[in-house]
Amino acid sequence: MATHRDAILDQFTRQAVPFSTAPGIRDEEALRLVVEASDAGPEDTVLDVACGPGLVTCAFARVVKHTTGLDLTPAMLERARTVQREQGLTNMTWQQGEAIPLPYPEGAFTIVVSRFAFHHFLDPAAALTEMRRVCAQGGRVVVVDSAPAPDKADAFNAMEVLRDPSHVRAMAQEELRGLFHAAGLPEPRVKTYRLEGEVEGLLKRSFPNPGDDEKIRTLFAASVADDALGVGARPEGGEIRFGYPVAVLVADRG
Ligand SMILES: C[S@@+](CC[C@H](N)C(=O)[O-])C[C@H]1O[C@@H](n2cnc3c(N)ncnc32)[C@H](O)[C@@H]1O
Repeated sequence: MATHRDAILDQFTRQAVPFSTAPGIRDEEALRLVVEASDAGPEDTVLDVACGPGLVTCAFARVVKHTTGLDLTPAMLERARTVQREQGLTNMTWQQGEAIPLPYPEGAFTIVVSRFAFHHFLDPAAALTEMRRVCAQGGRVVVVDSAPAPDKADAFNAMEVLRDPSHVRAMAQEELRGLFHAAGLPEPRVKTYRLEGEVEGLLKRSFPNPGDDEKIRTLFAASVADDALGVGARPEGGEIRFGYPVAVLVADRG
């Protein structure tokens, strides 16, 4: 029987190139927002959990002493090495591995970050507890993820599971904050932005089961009228554009 791990490896082996080249994912302004919100500086050592193609890892590497990117999917790490070469960065290490448990000792990094991965974890509370464990006292723990409005979350998640069968559940901002408390972290500082895109581009970097792409188009088209998905779907220039709500949560590791 296929496991959740199999689903992750299947999706992200196929998504490695189209995900890493999608404009919304590469968006430099959004990457800068995450680095600045983390208060990153030249003395920091960063772990990027579920780093995928290493875009966040590389954004941090430009301003900190060293970054490590960890991911389950070898094809993503291959992309990450290419992105690193393209950006001419040398202060980086890549490691294949699992987010739970993290293969590092307590307090090994001063910033521990994870972007767009918590909605893929079966146990996000355990993942955040691990991130806190490997973060040094005085460091920062940073989670960036889609954060649907509470009354839109079920519809958003149902669409996302169709689009990417390895999706588990995106959490509303309140629930994400609750995870920080449960992991023994203080109240996080929160910034939000919208990850903009259009439906056909989104489908080009997704691998839904056969026939589900049509269902996804129908859901977005219906959402133009009632915003059931909570993504501000709107027709523009012959396309349906949207903006996924994203939250950036940063807590100090006391
Ligand atoms: C949507 S991508 C996000 C990549 C990257 N963080 C970014 O924002 O560009 C999700 C990544 O999570 C990784 N992943 C999912 N579950 C994981 C786990 N349990 N341990 C490590 N990596 C995992 C996948 O392999 C994939 O590369």
